[in-house]
Amino acid sequence: MDITHLSVFENKCWVNGVWISSEETLEVKNPLDNSVITEVPVLSDEVVLQALTDAEIAQKSWKNVAPNERSRLLRNWFDLLMQHQDELAAIMTVEQGKPLREAKGEIAYAASYVEWFSEEAKRGYGDIIPTVPSSEILVFKEAIGVCAAITPWNFPAAMITRKVAPALAAGCTILVKPASETPLTALAIAKLAERAGIPGGVFNVITGSSTKIGKIFTESPIVKKLSFTGSTEIGAKLMAQSAPTVKKLSLELGGNAPVLVFNSANLDQAVQGVMDTKFRNAGQTCVCANRIYVQSAIYDEFVAKLKVKVDALKVGNGLDADTDIGPLINRKAIQKVEEHIKDALSKGASLVTGQTENTDGNWCIPTLVKDVTQDMLCAKEETFGPFAPIFKFEQEQDAIAMSNDTEFGLASYVFTQDINQFIRVSRGLEYGMVGVNTGLISNAAAPFGGVKSSGIGREGSKYGMDEYLEIKYVCLGNIN
Ligand code: SIN
Repeated sequence: MDITHLSVFENKCWVNGVWISSEETLEVKNPLDNSVITEVPVLSDEVVLQALTDAEIAQKSWKNVAPNERSRLLRNWFDLLMQHQDELAAIMTVEQGKPLREAKGEIAYAASYVEWFSEEAKRGYGDIIPTVPSSEILVFKEAIGVCAAITPWNFPAAMITRKVAPALAAGCTILVKPASETPLTALAIAKLAERAGIPGGVFNVITGSSTKIGKIFTESPIVKKLSFTGSTEIGAKLMAQSAPTVKKLSLELGGNAPVLVFNSANLDQAVQGVMDTKFRNAGQTCVCANRIYVQSAIYDEFVAKLKVKVDALKVGNGLDADTDIGPLINRKAIQKVEEHIKDALSKGASLVTGQTENTDGNWCIPTLVKDVTQDMLCAKEETFGPFAPIFKFEQEQDAIAMSNDTEFGLASYVFTQDINQFIRVSRGLEYGMVGVNTGLISNAAAPFGGVKSSGIGREGSKYGMDEYLEIKYVCLGNIN
C-alpha cells in the first residue's frame, strides 16, 4: 500500500510551526518486507538547540492562553485524529507492522488521551490551606515549562499523545523525538495538531539520531521535564544524564508481567484474558503477559484451551482484515523470542504449539510452552514477542512470591472469582497496575505506570496532569 499520497502523510519535521527537512536523512522501512517507505530528516544539533530556544519562547505565550482555549484546541485535535483514524492507522500498520484493526484501536486510544486532557486543561486546581487567622497558605499549580519526550515504536501514536496532551493542557510546550522505526505516525499526528490550530512551537516533532537528541534533551537547562517510554537500560542512562540539570522525569520502562490464574477462575475468561494481554501487538507491549502462572487443578485444561486459541491466530500482512499477528519490528526481536523458547526447552519445558525457529522475513509464529520454571530466561527477561510460557503453581503465596521475583513492576494480572483472594493478591503484588479478570487495562482515565525498575511517574488520569505541573506555595501574611 502506498501511504505517501494520504492527506496526513508527512516526512518533514514540525519545528516551531514550520515543516523542515535536512540534507542528511534516515530511511523508514516497512517491517513486512524491509522496503523503504520514505526518508525523514536527521536534524543537526544546531537545529535541535534552536528548537528548544523557540519552544521556550512559545511557552511564555502558551502558558498564558486561557485554559478554556487550550481545552478547545485540544478538542479540535481530538476530533481531527478521529476523523483521520483510517489514514493514521494505515500509516501505522505500514511502518510498524501491527494489524490494521489494532492500529485503528491505537488511534482511538491515542485520541482518548487528547480528549481526556482537553477536559483536564480546565482543572489545574490549586488549594487554599487553613492556617493561623492572620495569614493564608495558597497553592498554585503552574506549568513546568519546556518538556521533551522520547517515544517508542511499539505504540507510535498513543505514547506520544499521553505525554503531549497533558503537557499542552498544563501550559507546557514539548518536543517529541519519536522512535526512528516509526516517525511517520508522529509526523501525521503533528500535521493534525497544526490543522487543529495548536500554535507553532508548542508541539514539535524532531527526527534524527536518538543518542544525540537524547543527549541534547537531557543536558539542556531549557528542558525542565523529560518523559521517556522504552527500556530500563536507556531510561536509567537518561536519568543519569539528566541529573546535572535536575530535571523532573517520567519513565515508563521495561516490564515482566505475571498472570496468575487460580483454581477459582472462570477458565474461559482467563484464557481470553491471557490471549488479550499476551498477543496484543504480537506481544510487543510493555504490559504484555510475560509469565503465565496457572494453579495445578486447572493447569491441563487451561493449557488445552489456550492451545486452541493460539493455533487459531492468523499470522500475516497487517493490512489483511483477518490478520491477528503482523510481522515483528525486526529480526533482533525474533531472535530474542527464539532464544527464550530454546532456553526453556533446553531446561525441561515442553512445546505445546508453535516453533523454535522463524527463518522467513520478520514473521514469528505464536508459540506456547508449558512446565516453565523460574530458572529459565523467560522468567527473568521481557520477551517482547508472541511466546507464551506457562508455569504451574500449588499455593497462592508461591504464585505471589514468584510473580514478585523480578526487578520489574509494571503490570500484573489476576484471574479469580474469589473476592478475598482478589484483594489479598492485588495487595501482595509489587506492581504499579493489576488487572483483575481482564487482560486489557489501558485507559486514558487510569494512572499508567510502574514501580521498581519499571519506572517512575504516572501517565493518563488526573495524576498524569500533575507530572507537567509545579506546585508553588504562596504565604500570605499579615492580612488583618
Ligand atoms: C506500552 O507498551 O508501553 C504501552 C501499552 C499501553 O499503553 O497499553
